[in-house]
Amino acid sequence: MSKISDDPLYRDPALAQFYDTANRWGPDFDFCMKLAEGAQSALDLGCGTGELTAALAATRIVTGVDPAVAMLDIGKSRAGGDKVEWVEGDARTVRLGKRYDLIVLTGHAFQVFLTEEDQRAALATIAAHLGPAGRFVFDTRNPGFRGKRDVRHGSVRQLEHADLGAIEASDRSHYDEATGILSYENGYRVLSTGEHFSGRSKILYTSRDKLSGLMRDAGLTVDAWYGDWEGTPFHAQAREIIPVGRLA
Ligand SMILES: C[S@@+](CC[C@H](N)C(=O)[O-])C[C@H]1O[C@@H](n2cnc3c(N)ncnc32)[C@H](O)[C@@H]1O
Repeated sequence: MSKISDDPLYRDPALAQFYDTANRWGPDFDFCMKLAEGAQSALDLGCGTGELTAALAATRIVTGVDPAVAMLDIGKSRAGGDKVEWVEGDARTVRLGKRYDLIVLTGHAFQVFLTEEDQRAALATIAAHLGPAGRFVFDTRNPGFRGKRDVRHGSVRQLEHADLGAIEASDRSHYDEATGILSYENGYRVLSTGEHFSGRSKILYTSRDKLSGLMRDAGLTVDAWYGDWEGTPFHAQAREIIPVGRLA
């Protein structure tokens, strides 16, 4: 089982403070909120800064699990964060002794698992926490998507940070076809001070067919495969792989 303690983008408070600026509420969270209708309880694995976690907790019992204290600290201090049970834990090994009506892993958190062993462990955690009628959903980028994945020379966006003002967020990445591993670097420059923060990480791309087998082995069944958060059915060139399922 690989270690994640070297992932500075989430572990380092100086980098975690930029997460919400670079990753805003989108159709993924809308989709999960709709799926959550009727669910009395929800588990958010790899909940990060907890924007979705806190929204889910407005009307149900919610646990958010993440190993990165810097991310959890942001979640705890956000509006509605006091309604969430925050757990510093690893989605591969955590056992909460409870079952939930809904389990979500958003923001491509599933891709942080870099080996098949880690993926199997995370899927076993989902199976161990799903209630008899419970459902799960997660997203992982489709290796068959033909869009730009390799950004070796960097792309830059200008964003507005709630406290720091204008920032420049940059990405650089390199995809290894042989392993399905994307190595990337995120950088943030605060324009008013010139301060610069950056961190590197890796994520794994997995095909739908491979995933399908892993889920079957974990005792999970998939009711629908989507290719984006707008609900388009999965197809070979879809941007995303989004399974919605339950216990087999
Ligand atoms: C891209 S962020 C997604 C956060 C959140 N789900 C969202 O949609 O904004 C990935 C998250 O996965 C977390 N993570 C990394 N390794 C993990 C593990 N082994 N178990 C659970 N979460 C993990 C990171 O700390 C980070 O908060």
